[in-house]
Amino acid sequence: MLEALKNRRAIRQFETREVEREKIESLLEAATYAPNDRMREPWHFYVLQGDSLKRYEQVALDYLEKRFPTKPHLVESSMEAITKTPLVIVVTSAIVDGDEGATKDNTFAVSSAIMSMWLMTEQLDLGMVWRTRGVGLVHETALHTFIGASDKEQLVGTLCIGYPAEEKASMKKRTSFTEKTTWL
Ligand SMILES: Cc1cc2nc3c(=O)[nH]c(=O)nc-3n(C[C@H](O)[C@H](O)[C@H](O)COP(=O)(O)O)c2cc1C
Repeated sequence: MLEALKNRRAIRQFETREVEREKIESLLEAATYAPNDRMREPWHFYVLQGDSLKRYEQVALDYLEKRFPTKPHLVESSMEAITKTPLVIVVTSAIVDGDEGATKDNTFAVSSAIMSMWLMTEQLDLGMVWRTRGVGLVHETALHTFIGASDKEQLVGTLCIGYPAEEKASMKKRTSFTEKTTWL
């Protein structure tokens, strides 16, 4: 298990080839086994490929052009994150009305589900990066509106997935748990 955790990497460059439906379903299934408070199973997945992915590109482009009106090069390079990705899965978490604690717990559960998907991509010879910023649009309303999520859902991750077209980078040095742990 430790080896699998150490080997997992964020992959950002993908081949153009499509990801098979069977593999996508394996990723989605892996997510559903994540721990979650009171079995609320608070996740929902929006799968974007082909036409829908093209439309998302337009949403992202509109956002970036508005945000960086004087930086066309930045807009262009940022867009590559999705124009060169064959599969995007947007993951949302359910908001529990009037219960901030449960809403937070839902986000924690969805984060666990995303981690399960991330590890599963490795098993399937795929690569993935969890994006929130830039074209990830997790903190913006544009993507929420585009996918048709309800006001009882919040976005947690925009997962860019495909067959890797980059060498796996070596692991960025991690701080030892000894510096992050207080034994009480
Ligand atoms: C909540 C979250 C948000 C992230 N958002 C982005 C992002 O917007 N863009 C990006 O390139 N990577 C993003 N990442 C990936 C991290 O940059 C990456 O995990 C980190 O650099 C460590 O590298 P590793 O995953 O290969 O160990 C995100 C990761 C997490 C967990």
